[in-house]
Amino acid sequence: MSASLAPLPSGVRLAQLPPLALYVHMPWCVRKCPYCDFNSHQTKGDLPERTYVDTLVTDLELALPDVWGRRVHSVFFGGGTPSLFSAASIETLVSAFRARLPLAADCEITLEANPGTFETEKFRGYREAGVNRLSIGIQSFNPKHLKALGRIHDDGEARRAIDIARGSFDNVNLDLMYALPEQTPDEARADVEAALAAGTTHLSFYHLTLEPNTFFYRRPPSLPDEDAAAAMQDAIGEKLAEYGYIHYETSAWAKTGRECRHNLNYWRFGDYLGIGAGAHSKLSFPDRIERSMRCKDPRNYLERAARGEPVQERKEIGRADLVFEFMMNTLRLPGGFPVSLFFERTGLQISAAERPLAEAEARGLVVRDHERIRPTALGQSFLNDLLQLFLPRAERA
Ligand SMILES: C[S@@+](CC[C@H](N)C(=O)[O-])C[C@H]1O[C@@H](n2cnc3c(N)ncnc32)[C@H](O)[C@@H]1O
Ligand code: SF4
Repeated sequence: MSASLAPLPSGVRLAQLPPLALYVHMPWCVRKCPYCDFNSHQTKGDLPERTYVDTLVTDLELALPDVWGRRVHSVFFGGGTPSLFSAASIETLVSAFRARLPLAADCEITLEANPGTFETEKFRGYREAGVNRLSIGIQSFNPKHLKALGRIHDDGEARRAIDIARGSFDNVNLDLMYALPEQTPDEARADVEAALAAGTTHLSFYHLTLEPNTFFYRRPPSLPDEDAAAAMQDAIGEKLAEYGYIHYETSAWAKTGRECRHNLNYWRFGDYLGIGAGAHSKLSFPDRIERSMRCKDPRNYLERAARGEPVQERKEIGRADLVFEFMMNTLRLPGGFPVSLFFERTGLQISAAERPLAEAEARGLVVRDHERIRPTALGQSFLNDLLQLFLPRAERA
């Protein structure tokens, strides 16, 4: 892997840099789930915990010149299964981040945890290490569906995990999925009710998708049809609204003030530095915006780092891609974005997106005035069709 820049600069000029977040990827899991396309690998033998922690710190140190002096507003330990790491390792990492970067006083620090991989002591340790938000991968409360999803936990462990989490954290997210193999709308409703009964501050409900490179893609299970999935989606939204959760992103609901700051930063096209195997970064500079990706394979990442070789590839985002990427993030928010944000984040005038915006408006997918642009209910339901309009011409379907 070599550091290289795209030959054609976008010519952007940014008056100010966006807020900055730090993402830390932990790429191992007890077992690979048959639907999962994330950069996660079944542990074989011992986790190289110590080496990985040291490599993450070196990775951050080498990236410091790109983010010099910038305050970090959120940190997210994602996976994979970060809760496979000990509280002592997380403590080492949080301290290393604090020593090298100015973390905001109210920095949100989230850690993803899987039921079946932690106990009370470990959770307390995460809290003491500085983690102040926990995201638990529940997926479903129905033992039949958990089994079909190949999860290592059952419904009892799911509930126990939430109880333990709430003992140490007051800011907890649960990840659930719907449109599961053989799932009925009534079963999806029962999952929402169980999630609501857990009383957490944040809920994410993802439509199960068949991703290439997964077992489910190769051997598709029997999934609910489009109408049944749409009925589930409506039932989930209605129930969560009834209980006072705000639907602030396609798949995310939160109690007021408990929206995930880290994810909101992505959706507002903010900057993020990603460290660890396969982590992505998007970083702005006064005259350009760059994307980079670290080596995906954890062993390769560790070996390259040990030899002192570059672990990332970087490239500048061109003008057409900037328009698409900005829209791909901000139009996921039911509230859309203030028109001024487009210029702030991309350095481009909104006229650069006029043609697709006019078409989206004519098709009833967005509404806009001179202050704000947001997706309509139709645009939210057909988000992919809406985003297609912003694809650089050569890439349109
Ligand atoms: C990066 S995963 C990590 C969370 C954690 N390892 C776990 O699975 O419990 C984050 C979430 O993405 C969701 N997810 C993963 N694969 C998905 C798929 N194919 N379709 C929809 N959601 C998916 C799951 O809800 C999962 O909790
Ligand atoms: S535990 Fe999470 S990250 Fe790991 S394979 Fe399953 S869904 Fe993917």
